[in-house]
Amino acid sequence: MERIRVQAAQPYDVCIGSGILEEFPEFLRVRAGAASPAVGSSGAYTPALMIVTDGNVAAHYLKGLVRATEAAGFRVHTALFPPGESLKSERPLFSLLGCMVRKGLARDSIVIALGGGVIGDFAGFAASVYMRGCGFVQVPTSLLAQVDSSVGGKVGINLREGKNLVGSFYSPLTVVCDTDTLKTLPEREMVSGLAEVVKYGLIRDASLFGALEGAFRGSPVGRDGRLSPQVVKERLLEDGTLLGSLVTGSVRIKSEVVGADEREAGLRMTLNFGHTFGHALEQLTGYRRYLHGEAVLLGMKMAVELSAASGMLQAAERERALGFLDIFRVPSVKGIDAAAMLAQMGRDKKKKAGSLRFVLLRGIGAAEIAPGVDPSAVIESVEAVRDRRAPPAAHR
Ligand SMILES: NC(=O)c1ccc[n+]([C@@H]2O[C@H](COP(=O)([O-])OP(=O)(O)OC[C@H]3O[C@@H](n4cnc5c(N)ncnc54)[C@H](O)[C@@H]3O)[C@@H](O)[C@H]2O)c1
Repeated sequence: MERIRVQAAQPYDVCIGSGILEEFPEFLRVRAGAASPAVGSSGAYTPALMIVTDGNVAAHYLKGLVRATEAAGFRVHTALFPPGESLKSERPLFSLLGCMVRKGLARDSIVIALGGGVIGDFAGFAASVYMRGCGFVQVPTSLLAQVDSSVGGKVGINLREGKNLVGSFYSPLTVVCDTDTLKTLPEREMVSGLAEVVKYGLIRDASLFGALEGAFRGSPVGRDGRLSPQVVKERLLEDGTLLGSLVTGSVRIKSEVVGADEREAGLRMTLNFGHTFGHALEQLTGYRRYLHGEAVLLGMKMAVELSAASGMLQAAERERALGFLDIFRVPSVKGIDAAAMLAQMGRDKKKKAGSLRFVLLRGIGAAEIAPGVDPSAVIESVEAVRDRRAPPAAHR
């Protein structure tokens, strides 16, 4: 098992390993015990737990977790919600908070987010506002949640006016990341999470990027020259150490970045590489065509094109980055209007002082925030990805 310390204002550990969910009560005891002296010794008061999860995840992991935590002496409540982004909204939030009151949860109670990024953001935000903040533990079960959303303390919900517009920074007591849970993750969700791993390689770690290239070299491609989500998932699971090392490598990078810039004043913004384009793609297609990571993967191709067009990225590095990004089969950009993308990006909540700022690459493993990018270059970058017929041959 790997344990990575996140040096946030409230530091916490991310514990990563295969099968570690079986020892969950121990992680809880160690961490919650440190936070609350009332925990742990036999016969003593133990905090109530509220396990928040969705139907898909519950089907595989809820019973086991309830059994294990009850056997360890915790008082356990559960809140089960339907899966999907619509959970991150006002009604389910108030329904969960009301349920917590009725179950008698107090400030020293602990909300356990068992699920993907939606559950983590939703349950974490509930924990952050319940009685001005109760305990919170992340148990991420999607690849995206394990490598990205469970680390860094951002929690929140959406408004009808836009995504993640209400939220807070709220550190979990601990993050327990069992890579075995990824065995039941749907294949497209695996690709979606992998996109964030590729992002870490591109922005900060050339050796991680090289390891990813190596991991998929020679994997069977379809007639379109790309890897199907099924092949990607099989490849990630067939080698027990590969997945663990990708998750650990990603969490290490995210924790370094968050430790240096928790409130996103500078460095943390580089984690948005590909996201400005990606968010616009998601919004223009009504959040129906792409999973988040799929849109980010396409957005990273556009950001690579923009980096090259802006003179920051050399041709060979552009080819290498696109050669790898292009091997994944994700929904196409067909029919997307580049000017509409630009207009949508102008409404992105991450723009500053009225001007769009893009995270661009100087090379593989090196990203920078570039202000004042030429809008026509942005349009051309979208068109270059949208209109390219065949994937570049660089990777194959
Ligand atoms: N807080 C942050 O820093 C941060 C960062 C990135 C993304 N996010 C948020 O994360 C969310 C996306 O997260 P996601 O991609 O994990 O989506 P998700 O939570 O919707 O999970 C994806 C799907 O997989 C299912 N699932 C999850 N784990 C499973 C498992 N082990 N077995 C079977 N099914 C499983 C879920 O039920 C869901 O249907 C978005 O709301 C996004 O805004 C937050």
